[in-house]
Amino acid sequence: MGQKMSRRFVAGTTVEELLRAAEAVNKLGARVSVDNLGENVTSRDEALHSRDLYHQLLDEIDKRKLDANVSLKLTHMGLDVDEKLARDIVSELLEHAVSIKNFIRIDMEGSPYTQRTLDFTRELHRKPGCAGYVGTVLQSYMRRTEEDAKSLCSEGIRIRLCKGAYKEPPEIAFQPKPEVDANYVKVAKYLIKSGTFHGLATHDERIIQEIKDWARKENVSPSAFEFQMLYGIRRDLQEALVKEGWGMRVYIPFGTEWYPYLMRRLAERPANVFFIAKNILRG
Ligand code: FDA
Repeated sequence: MGQKMSRRFVAGTTVEELLRAAEAVNKLGARVSVDNLGENVTSRDEALHSRDLYHQLLDEIDKRKLDANVSLKLTHMGLDVDEKLARDIVSELLEHAVSIKNFIRIDMEGSPYTQRTLDFTRELHRKPGCAGYVGTVLQSYMRRTEEDAKSLCSEGIRIRLCKGAYKEPPEIAFQPKPEVDANYVKVAKYLIKSGTFHGLATHDERIIQEIKDWARKENVSPSAFEFQMLYGIRRDLQEALVKEGWGMRVYIPFGTEWYPYLMRRLAERPANVFFIAKNILRG
């Protein structure tokens, strides 16, 4: 049942299924970021397995000439097991990405990992030859995000801005949706004007409209940034943005560890539970 439910948001469990989904998205005119689902691994072997899979993904993207980069989570690369292990794995992956002129996005996880994720990204970005090949994610619900955006932009680090998918306490995170949204728009405008290429990850039609109107008014080129959305969510809006000439990247997750990802998608929009259950019952 869970597996059936996950199919709406997850491209499948195998690399082949993922690559087919990525090809289809590219054909519609959107770029892709691929994500092998998994987080908080508890052993060295699991982390090494994730590493091997990401090397395979980079090779396949290159071989098939897909317009795709990769997204990964540090806890999937063993951050909770051994920080040095995670650092070595991600450094190697970054070297691989640089050698084929690709890009690694380090996803942002819950607040216990915020500072470490930013430190990691900065450290990797400063390695000789690696500038521009690695970026990370900021969440507009975090009170610190505006400061983080300024600091990362001063180093030319590419940012994906999202609202944030974890439950965080009020001391560190805005709780009311209007505050999260207002911070999103404020930081998004700052990023667009920063001179570095960033990604605006949201399905919020109102915010997207506001950004488009503002970008046109400010004469910002549509190639100065891109919108990003999750696989299976608001496909109509994804296609409309592509048709209008905006940059669009679809984040495609795949793999067997779909459970936490699916739970976050359902929690964001409880109506999904009914929508998916109805489709399953219909067969
Ligand atoms: P919001 O939740 O306000 O929703 C606005 C509208 O979007 C809804 O009214 C609905 O129409 C649609 N929508 C949103 N979620 C939906 C869903 N699950 N199903 C169906 N419709 C939905 N988070 C994080 O903490 N770290 C990360 O690294 C990332 N990475 C990331 C990459 C990309 C490409 C995206 C798009 C998102 C993320 N996220 C993330 C998740 C993000 O933080 C956030 O939880 C979701 O994108 C939902 O927020 P929205 O901005 O879409 O707005």
